[in-house]
Amino acid sequence: MSTKPFIIVAIDGGAAAGKSSSSRALSEQFNLLHSDTGSYFRSLASEMLKRGVNYSDTEAVKKALHSINLKTRITGRRAEMELSGYVAGDEIRSAEVNAAVSHFAAINELRETLKAYERSQAEVAKVNGFSGLIMEGRDIGSAIFPDADFRFYLHADPEERSKRRAKEGHLDKVAERDRLDSSRAKDPLACPPGAIAIDSTFLTLPEVVKKLAEIISTKLTAQ
Ligand code: DC
Repeated sequence: MSTKPFIIVAIDGGAAAGKSSSSRALSEQFNLLHSDTGSYFRSLASEMLKRGVNYSDTEAVKKALHSINLKTRITGRRAEMELSGYVAGDEIRSAEVNAAVSHFAAINELRETLKAYERSQAEVAKVNGFSGLIMEGRDIGSAIFPDADFRFYLHADPEERSKRRAKEGHLDKVAERDRLDSSRAKDPLACPPGAIAIDSTFLTLPEVVKKLAEIISTKLTAQ
């Protein structure tokens, strides 16, 4: 009797590279739990700002982390992070959070807290009957799930990415965030060795999804 394998798909890339939209589509197509780790970093950054904790005060960040309890709420195929009992809303996409999130994301203790949480989502996906987990972020294929079944790296011209954000109505300095994200000491944004890199500058979303889906299907069929 053949049982379908549980798969882990890692999607990394810079801001507005198309990770979330393509992950959402693939989660539907392959029955995967979708985990948007950028939203987790954003939720923690937003909570810190609400509490008046500055990213330059690492001790205060550490102290705040101890008082925060992280759980997962599944909505459709999306794994949302519950932070001490609530799921953050649109405030995590504000210009203030956009400007601060990469600074918070460079703090080791904050990354370690989220690393443990992110890894635990494979089990959450399994016990909830999903065929796998699709996790997107900056360090998924390099640090969170280096042994993932599929590791993709999406990139696109910074100008094109800024346009995409502006179309969504968000003020976001994508090149500046990429600079901070790829230059931090801990688990920086990079195309992990062995990952499949896709440039989406001149591709539509359906074209990107088709490319990724074909790679996944081909390997799954061969197994
Ligand atoms: O994917 P996003 O633009 O919503 O991510 C927001 C920020 O969170 C990003 O600029 C850096 C940080 N981040 C990270 O450091 N590691 C991840 N795996 C995901 C996001």
